[in-house]
Amino acid sequence: MARYVGAIDQGTTSTRFMIFDHEGAEVARHQLEHQQVMPRAGWVEHDPVEIWERTSSVLQTALRRAGIAADDLAALGITNQRETTVVWNRHTGRPYYNAIVWQDTRTDRIAKQLDSDGHGDLIRRRAGIPPATYFAAGKVQWILENVDGVRADAEAGNAIFGTIDSWLIWHLTGGIDGGVHVTDVTNASRTMLMDLETLDWDDELVALFDIPRDMLPRIVSSSPTEPYGHTTRTGPLAAEVPIAAALGDQQAAMVGQVCFSPGQAKNTYGTGNFLLLNTGEELVRSDNGLLTTVCYRFGDDRPVYALEGSIAVTGSAVQWLRDQLGIISGAAQSESLAREVPDNGGVYFVPAFSGLFAPYWRSDARGAIVGLSRFNNNAHIARATLESICFQSRDVADAMCKDSGVELEVLRVDGGVTANSLCMQIQSDVLGIPVSRPVVAETTALGAAYAAGLSVGFFSDTAELESQWQEDRRWEPRWDDDQRAEQYARWQKAVTRTLDWVD
Ligand code: G3P
Repeated sequence: MARYVGAIDQGTTSTRFMIFDHEGAEVARHQLEHQQVMPRAGWVEHDPVEIWERTSSVLQTALRRAGIAADDLAALGITNQRETTVVWNRHTGRPYYNAIVWQDTRTDRIAKQLDSDGHGDLIRRRAGIPPATYFAAGKVQWILENVDGVRADAEAGNAIFGTIDSWLIWHLTGGIDGGVHVTDVTNASRTMLMDLETLDWDDELVALFDIPRDMLPRIVSSSPTEPYGHTTRTGPLAAEVPIAAALGDQQAAMVGQVCFSPGQAKNTYGTGNFLLLNTGEELVRSDNGLLTTVCYRFGDDRPVYALEGSIAVTGSAVQWLRDQLGIISGAAQSESLAREVPDNGGVYFVPAFSGLFAPYWRSDARGAIVGLSRFNNNAHIARATLESICFQSRDVADAMCKDSGVELEVLRVDGGVTANSLCMQIQSDVLGIPVSRPVVAETTALGAAYAAGLSVGFFSDTAELESQWQEDRRWEPRWDDDQRAEQYARWQKAVTRTLDWVD
């Protein structure tokens, strides 16, 4: 009897494999970073082959660390950075181009053209999302238009598209020797090509981007009644393990945070921040710049939807302090440096490096640090960076409240930045509600493991999963209402300074 479930978490900066036991406790993990390829300002790419190699390595190393065999895994779940786009040849396995990452802004013109041609509303209505560089379809169109030979190969049925879940499942299930070409419904909901109601590719939307339909993967449940396929004896696990879940990483975090009831929300602090609110079987359309997205679909049940506030740059702003400014040597130091000052000293930093996502959707925005005086130092910049994470989260939390009428009573948080206690305290201050972090901070991987375990009967139902959630730490607001209002008003003013910067 297999005693564990495994989850591959293929994120923007790294790939990890985690093994969990029946109680949802971590047994082992391994994680490897991959290269960020930035050939021009605004372009961000990954090498898909490197991602597959990293995935193979972390699978093998984590199993070795756990001291278990692949056959001890009841199932594998996959969770991934969403929207990042790969087009590859199904006969050679070779990608035609690097993966174009969700943060990449090269498709700005494609997105703008859709709106000026009057197609924006169709996309918003059918797919639940606005035309933006963020989503996959424009990236596929760019590859079809700019890389020699791809369109002809796509029309001949040889070139296929997938987000990273598809790319990994295809490889894990045999690649050129019969790899399965699927994507889960949560990832499909990030393309601008899927009808949120039918959960199928929409012919009109596919035609708008001039994408040959045969390139597209089959859309499947996030936790299927039958596995998508099995790993192969010639693959990295050298065993046949069922692949029984796939979810975009933010949706997986909802599952890992057991946000199964309408009205429950979580905020994940990764490269960017993603605040999701479960809206149940109801498809809530946003009037305030949020996305409507599929939260998860278990088996053949009706899908559960979510409202999402996506923020492009949060944890990556802290990385920027380290890599580009060199004022900290690691993420942890952002906290100690920021603690050297009692407040931001009047400095506000809006890290609009990829434009601004929710709720603004302004690809013409670029970052700004405002309010500087001779008095300010590195510590103020560090503090303003942490505050920018929290103010941006407030922007989307306010939009969510307007769209759904749900007043958040507590915010469940997860992801790397939640280790930064000062940042979590500021988050609670800025929102005026408690912030709660669970014992298992790796909720993304846990959610994929939960979904895979549910699929194969390793876990019996969502109630069993709910009973496993435990709070680790809670932060209560310390600012009074006046301070909160004043600080937030300054932030909003700073945001206006970043707009209309790029033509
Ligand atoms: O939509 C992008 C998101 O899925 C990326 O998440 O954690 O890799 O930054 P992360």
